[in-house]
Amino acid sequence: MWFRYPSTARFSLTGISTSFRSGELTLVRGPNGAGKTTLLKVAGLVYRPSAGRVVVDGEDFWSLDEGRRLARRREVVYVHERPVLIRGRVLDNVVYGLRLRGNGGSGAVELCREVMEELQLWELRDVDVRKLSAGQAQLVAVARALVLEPKLIYLDEPLAHLDEERRLLLLKTLERIRRRGAGVVVASHQDLEGLGVDRVVVLSDGRLVRELYSGDQLHGSLNQLPTGGSRP
Ligand SMILES: Nc1ncnc2c1ncn2[C@@H]1O[C@H](COP(=O)(O)OP(=O)(O)O)[C@@H](O)[C@H]1O
Ligand SMILES: [Mg+2]
Repeated sequence: MWFRYPSTARFSLTGISTSFRSGELTLVRGPNGAGKTTLLKVAGLVYRPSAGRVVVDGEDFWSLDEGRRLARRREVVYVHERPVLIRGRVLDNVVYGLRLRGNGGSGAVELCREVMEELQLWELRDVDVRKLSAGQAQLVAVARALVLEPKLIYLDEPLAHLDEERRLLLLKTLERIRRRGAGVVVASHQDLEGLGVDRVVVLSDGRLVRELYSGDQLHGSLNQLPTGGSRP
């Protein structure tokens, strides 16, 4: 898969071939500008690749008709690094996606409550989002995505603004939804200590330069491993 932003001459992603599976927690690593955000947006069905395909559940997403695309989009969410919240209260934001899907009744609030309690957001439910810290706002965006119960969730630098306590809350939540069978993909320019990742995909200058599985001793030894690690 290749991707080039319309305004630029060079490709931001070059010949990327990988897959993100349900029940798997993948970390996408690489320095600033490596292409992590672009990859997550292409895989997360936000951007259409310039060349190549994005296959979701065996279907070539961008060749589908509108109806099928809509159905597939419901299974995949991308959480922006700097999430945009809608005006209003915390709870309004978390329930927002469910309402868009015509599922805004009392069951929706119960579902929100479960996720929000886990992320310690329930006590903030009536707070105006303009009063939130950056870290709280980021967790609200994650909660808003999680209540949609996606099969695949892509999180772009989700820990950037979180303090240690909230970091652990989020990591625990990601572990839980992975155990429930969701695929979780986290882009981060730094290592994620405390998160049991199954796989690390390393990008450099728009290319996938390494793919490591958890048996390959992921932590602390990324640089010493040979290119193109394989499943143990
Ligand atoms: N909206 C954009 N328009 C043009 N180029 C972009 C845009 N967003 C990112 N890029 C370029 O694409 C490359 C990859 O960027 P990005 O995916 O944001 O990397 P990362 O998330 O790893 O920091 C960089 O060279 C960056 O300058
Ligand atoms: Mg980025």
